[in-house]
Amino acid sequence: MQHFLTTADWSAQAINQLLATASELKANPCQALLRGRSIALLFLNPSLRTRTSFELGMQQLGGLAVVLQPGQDAWGIEFRPGAVMDGDAEEHIAEAAGVLSRYCDLIALRAFPGFKDWQQDREDRLIRTLARYSVVPVINMETIVHPCQELALLMTLRERLGTLQGKRFLLTWTWHPRPLNTAVANSALLAASKFGMDITLLLPDEQYLLDEQFMDLAGRQAAAGGGSLSVTTDIQRAYSGAEAVYAKSWGALPFYGQPEREFELRADYRHFIVDQEKMNLTDNAVFSHCLPLRRNIKATDEVMDADYCAALDEAENRLHVQKALMLELLGVKYQ
Ligand code: CP
Repeated sequence: MQHFLTTADWSAQAINQLLATASELKANPCQALLRGRSIALLFLNPSLRTRTSFELGMQQLGGLAVVLQPGQDAWGIEFRPGAVMDGDAEEHIAEAAGVLSRYCDLIALRAFPGFKDWQQDREDRLIRTLARYSVVPVINMETIVHPCQELALLMTLRERLGTLQGKRFLLTWTWHPRPLNTAVANSALLAASKFGMDITLLLPDEQYLLDEQFMDLAGRQAAAGGGSLSVTTDIQRAYSGAEAVYAKSWGALPFYGQPEREFELRADYRHFIVDQEKMNLTDNAVFSHCLPLRRNIKATDEVMDADYCAALDEAENRLHVQKALMLELLGVKYQ
């Protein structure tokens, strides 16, 4: 049985197949290939795109999605093996996963990290524990990586740029009023490197470097695919000649769990906003963002409203790639 916890476990060939199916589904959205099948969507954190695209996607394939918010409309779940459950959680993931596996054909989980201890959170224990107890395929809807977003990003870049190998991809940090999850940034590196892009990671300060497990893997993947990965704090150099600009804000890992101190670090970096002046340095680059995005904080209205902005395409493509993913995990071929 195959899960979709991280694209690190999936070959470029397998991802290419998913993207090909997603393009077919984009042209022919409603097909009852999953009639009688179901997916449980467990949200420990809010969502607009992920929830809507999975619910609609399963419905368009003739199946049913059940949304559960543990701790709100479902019992709170304890994920730690061997825990003495004298806290708030009413049931253990062993039973929650076991029961949902009896009812549903797929289980998906969104579980952001705890923002207290990165050494613990970097192990991505919640989704891995769910996968351990589940007897049906598990899908990651964002933990410390966001692999469904990766698929949508890749599909969108292909639609705008064609072949990705050797194309210049800029991942830029942007300012935000609070330290956010590194998941989408980690995933952008993994996606672009797997397809051999020449990646520039633009940071305001080296304290914003991403976790070494993702930096190392992205470097290895890029090299294996004929691409590259470089890091800079030079805005002008980073934007010059870029063919794709991807923006994301995230918290500095050395200050993980210390938002007030992290806020002081980022105080001088509001100018990392994506604006037209910076985009003018690029090689007519496509711009995108995973959304949600605070306008005129991460990117200006001018950038978001430009023809080169593909953020809505990327959001739409979440629907198509996730449908392809559900078919693949259930072994259902698209004809
Ligand atoms: N990009 C993304 O995952 O959006 P949501 O948080 O709204 O699901």
